[in-house]
Amino acid sequence: MSSEPPAAAAPPASAKGPNTAPSGGARTEWSIGELLRWTQARFAELGIAEARLDAEHLLAHALGCPRMTLYTEHDRPVDDEARGRFREFVRRRLGREPVAHIEGKRGFHALGLELEVDRRVLVPRPETEHLVDWLLEDRTKGEPGHVIDVGTGSGAIALAVKHARPELTVTGVDVSDDALTVARANATRLGADVALERSDLLADVPTPPGGWDAVAANLPYIPTAVIATLEPEVRLFEPTLALDGGAEGLDLIARLLDQLVRPGVLASTGAFYLEVGFDQSARVAAMVRARGFEAAVRNDYAGIGRIVRGRAAVVPDAGEAE
Ligand SMILES: C[S@@+](CC[C@H](N)C(=O)[O-])C[C@H]1O[C@@H](n2cnc3c(N)ncnc32)[C@H](O)[C@@H]1O
Repeated sequence: MSSEPPAAAAPPASAKGPNTAPSGGARTEWSIGELLRWTQARFAELGIAEARLDAEHLLAHALGCPRMTLYTEHDRPVDDEARGRFREFVRRRLGREPVAHIEGKRGFHALGLELEVDRRVLVPRPETEHLVDWLLEDRTKGEPGHVIDVGTGSGAIALAVKHARPELTVTGVDVSDDALTVARANATRLGADVALERSDLLADVPTPPGGWDAVAANLPYIPTAVIATLEPEVRLFEPTLALDGGAEGLDLIARLLDQLVRPGVLASTGAFYLEVGFDQSARVAAMVRARGFEAAVRNDYAGIGRIVRGRAAVVPDAGEAE
């Protein structure tokens, strides 16, 4: 399937439109509101789900203004230069390139982190914010500890955790050198002191004395055969290495659990947090329990179990057991 839109699919550079003079003279101006309406309709026709929101993001990006300005200056004409930029953004979006790639950034978490993203990394998703929240809730503020983000991608989880709790020593690992380049650039831009290392899960990174206090992992969990059925934004533009979790989607999660169960890897009071697919939480919780950990599941805003937390099971002492 081609990712290129037809050439005529972007808003006309100086076409006739609602501002056309009654005499029929060529139209010279498009207002912000008119461009938004035109683009929303075009996106919707092509089945782009968030047609209005996407149009707003792209126009605000072309104008270099906050989205709010599109409302307060709805009738303002858009000059040729900005309209030229917007045409190019619309053309790319019609080819199903994600808005985050066109803008080159994505906001992550209520902490207000802005991450640079491109084809080398997964665009951070809102589900992952629940993982960050759970981890932060479990940690006592001000208490130091060692946290690792396995499969860090853009660095989203590692950078959010470090931003919220500077007292923590945070490491992010990935097998993708491309992803690490993006994560390091994000860390530098945000001034975050996070170690970013190449490692196959936990295999190539030294375990801190006493073990990891928290392990966060949003690993690839899409079953291989499902990838071809995903939206073009995902299957054409996001790295397969960030998506493909093997036949059932659970290969990497299973391998990580096998590493975590080794003595000394997880601190005795430590916990791990796994993001999983919409239908995987029960299976992953069972995998966690099968390795002797206690498991709990947290839902996303849609009520779907998306984060599985594991930690050492509490063994009742003889007195309690009676
Ligand atoms: C779903 S993406 C998550 C990215 C980021 N943590 C986030 O939440 O936006 C999964 C990441 O895991 C990485 N990955 C895949 N296999 C890995 C492995 N064996 N060891 C470490 N990282 C791996 C991919 O390169 C990708 O960056």
